[in-house]
Amino acid sequence: MQKILEIKGLHTHFITDRGVVPAVDGIDLYIKQGEVLGVVGESGCGKSVTSLSIMGLIPQPPGKIVKGSILFKDEDLVQAKEKRMQKLRGNEISMIFQEPMTSLNPLLTIGDQISEAIKLHQGLSRKEATQLSIAMLKKVGIPRAEAIVNEHPHKLSGGMRQRVMIAMALSCEPQLLIADEPTTALDVTIQAQILELMKKLNKETGTAIMLITHDLGVVAEMCDRVAVMYSGKVVEEGSVADIYRNPQHPYTKGLIQSIPRMDVETEVLYAIPGNVPSPGSIKSGCRFAPRCEYVMDRCHVEMPHLTEKEKGHYSRCWLAQ
Ligand SMILES: Nc1ncnc2c1ncn2[C@@H]1O[C@H](COP(=O)(O)OP(=O)(O)OP(=O)(O)O)[C@@H](O)[C@H]1O
Ligand SMILES: [Mg+2]
Repeated sequence: MQKILEIKGLHTHFITDRGVVPAVDGIDLYIKQGEVLGVVGESGCGKSVTSLSIMGLIPQPPGKIVKGSILFKDEDLVQAKEKRMQKLRGNEISMIFQEPMTSLNPLLTIGDQISEAIKLHQGLSRKEATQLSIAMLKKVGIPRAEAIVNEHPHKLSGGMRQRVMIAMALSCEPQLLIADEPTTALDVTIQAQILELMKKLNKETGTAIMLITHDLGVVAEMCDRVAVMYSGKVVEEGSVADIYRNPQHPYTKGLIQSIPRMDVETEVLYAIPGNVPSPGSIKSGCRFAPRCEYVMDRCHVEMPHLTEKEKGHYSRCWLAQ
């Protein structure tokens, strides 16, 4: 399968009063057509900054893509003009944001917002667009869709708003959907329903999905491949099966160990000791070294390369080399 998105050597930095924050610090990633790629890692490792970089939505200043390329079907989005990005956004590439309220317009009805996206991109009349909006709302499991189209976002619960976001994101039948923690704010049953829905749309329409989450359980359910991020870099990448069966990086091992299990009784859940370093605070060597139980002298001095352990399975750790 062809790559629909390929990120090469991406560096996205923020210039702040306290200096340069290298939030994304040399990331390589790809997504093939129709694939679901999971991106996991603890809070602050650069997941959202990566997705906003793809969408061309990094606030500048203080942010800036300082190096690298983001190829979407061979077009470099880093070089694309804002006008071109507007055309791609909500058309060929859609995004579901971490916080749904920020991306819904409080002044417009749900129907108007979805219709706007549809009309803009598919050239339909107002009436046709409303019909299609209702159909989309039904597809994402919203009851009373005919009434909901006339309501404003604040009347809806968090779970309903997130579904509206998903309906909007999918109404233009994007080739790539970026879903940034689409279900974190929702309760467990709604979470499961929304993930199920995304999976179904992936299967039915072949939309490639980049699913950002800190939940490895969700990745196991949803994804074909997974990239594990740590402090602005990818530290491990491979098929979901390879990574769960044979994790290479001590950080990935720790993440897998912290998944709650139903089949064994444990008093306390395992958590990786220590915290994610703030971007740029570790000047040399492997950024996980201060928290790693297998740390060697070399790790504090030299940053390991991403190396292939088995076919398509990469790890950035001296132990794997
Ligand atoms: N506008 C900004 N100005 C300065 N620093 C920023 C800005 N936006 C993000 N950062 C920094 O970039 C780093 C990566 O942030 P990002 O939001 O990508 O993390 P994340 O992996 O999405 O975390 P979470 O799981 O909490 O959503 C963080 O250290 C954050 O403080
Ligand atoms: Mg985030």
